[in-house]
Amino acid sequence: MAAAGGIPVLILKEGSTRSRGKEAQHNNIMAARIIAEAVRTSLGPRGMDKMLVDSLGDITITSDGKTILDEIEVEHPAAKMMVEIAKAQDKEVGDGTTTAVVVAGELLTKAEELLNKNVHPTVIIDGYRKAADKAIETLEKIAIPIDPTDKEFLKKAAMTSMASKLVSENREYLANIAVEAVLHVAQKVGDQYKVDLDDILIQKKTGESVADTTLIKGIVLDKEVVHPGMPKRVENAKIALLNCPLEIEKTEFDAKINIETPEQMEAFLREEENMLREMVERIKGAGANVVICQKGIDDMAQHFLARAGILAVRRAKKSDMEKLAKATGGRIITNLEDLTEKDLGYAELVEERKIGEDKMVFIEGCKNPRAVAILIRGGAERIVDEAERSLHDALCVVRDVVQEPKILAGGGAPEIEVAKALRDYASSLTGREQLAAQSFAEAIEVVPTALAENAGLDPIDIISELRARHEKGETWAGIDVFEGKVKDMRELNVYDPLAVKKQVIKSATEAATMILKIDDVIAAGKMKTPKGEEGEKYKGGEFD
Ligand SMILES: Nc1ncnc2c1ncn2[C@@H]1O[C@H](COP(=O)(O)OP(=O)(O)OP(=O)(O)O)[C@@H](O)[C@H]1O
Ligand SMILES: [Mg+2]
Repeated sequence: MAAAGGIPVLILKEGSTRSRGKEAQHNNIMAARIIAEAVRTSLGPRGMDKMLVDSLGDITITSDGKTILDEIEVEHPAAKMMVEIAKAQDKEVGDGTTTAVVVAGELLTKAEELLNKNVHPTVIIDGYRKAADKAIETLEKIAIPIDPTDKEFLKKAAMTSMASKLVSENREYLANIAVEAVLHVAQKVGDQYKVDLDDILIQKKTGESVADTTLIKGIVLDKEVVHPGMPKRVENAKIALLNCPLEIEKTEFDAKINIETPEQMEAFLREEENMLREMVERIKGAGANVVICQKGIDDMAQHFLARAGILAVRRAKKSDMEKLAKATGGRIITNLEDLTEKDLGYAELVEERKIGEDKMVFIEGCKNPRAVAILIRGGAERIVDEAERSLHDALCVVRDVVQEPKILAGGGAPEIEVAKALRDYASSLTGREQLAAQSFAEAIEVVPTALAENAGLDPIDIISELRARHEKGETWAGIDVFEGKVKDMRELNVYDPLAVKKQVIKSATEAATMILKIDDVIAAGKMKTPKGEEGEKYKGGEFD
């Protein structure tokens, strides 16, 4: 399709489309902005929820940025990049996903205005990068240092992260659980704390209400004891963790055994029975009184286990097995022959309890005192699911603060402060980079703007008042979205982790500059433009 010195150099497959230069940039920016617009109305405590219906008809109701973007299947590559930043934000810090996407969209909107004024993308990108560094520096400067084990502040940050969620009514209760759980698993390394959220096991069970969610110092399995003849409660539990079936394995190929007499039949069955009995003997011999098995347990084996007074659970999840091993200090055995006393885990109590309609197995007082689990309850499945997502944000936020003990009062205050610093900074830059830094300052103000809009307030009035108050040195003047007034956000106990706000700047800048750098989109076959009339998966209409 193109020729260099008479030699054709690039041949695209039939059906490929190509857009380049301004047109490509415009299309990409538009697609990314549509995504940002879609989540903008769900920002903040007065934000709206989204109801998402997947191709199987399953419904999710959420205001969580990452979940919304996860559920909508986007086709356009630039739109996909926006989904990626939400994921990156979630992975790094766990909160601020909506903010990151909204800020990225606004950075692109402002960039397009500059492109229309013939500012070269490279200049915008450089200006944005410098502005981002300055923004992060400003956040570091204004951040309030706290003691990483100060439960009051941790709780306030957790409550802020849940203010915008469906479960906000119960946020104080859930925040306490999140703080307790995170501090329980936090480990001091040098003079800092490290938190691995994988150490916290999350289980969900529909029934009762969110206020019945509990923190368990131990592990909970969503399983019942396999055989009615087994004990339901074992103290001083010595736990065998098995990743091998307590069954006679079926051969993988068809085999035929000719049985001619009833005696032969009996001998055959007896042989099987003996093998199972031997398995149970081995477990008993190692001194176990509890068996948690990742695979199946044959009826006959269940019977023998029950007779030996052993409590057994089958088909435990792999991830639960790993947590059990860590909590009880046991080793997961894949070959029963290897099982010895040394491999057994320990817990003070293993007990089956009735939770709502179902039974669950609780393992408490584990060898590793750090093991904790949270059992989430709620009146309906959708509520339990949203409670889990909200608790995820809260746990992440508490972890962020424990690991980097600095917080910012929220409600748009830090963004206004950053914009102010950037406007000062812009004057130190030359020429067109100055324009880019100014655009960045305007773009970051989308956060207070959207918070005001979602609260039904006039963003222009609010922003000008905020700017004026910040000029006067009121660093923490932000929007009280419930009263509709500008207030010192510290009085309202609205606090976000510094780590989250810094990551917002990083993720948003990264996405915006990445999209700006593209000036040529070459798409193979099938790929459709954002109009998507023929695109099978593209659901562009849903964003309107
Ligand atoms: N009571 C409040 N008054 C004003 N602003 C608040 C209040 N509570 C929280 N906020 C602000 O709301 C914003 C966070 O909103 P939200 O939780 O909806 O989005 P997110 O954290 O960016 O994304 P997500 O939680 O979906 O990952 C933050 O800027 C925070 O400071
Ligand atoms: Mg949030």
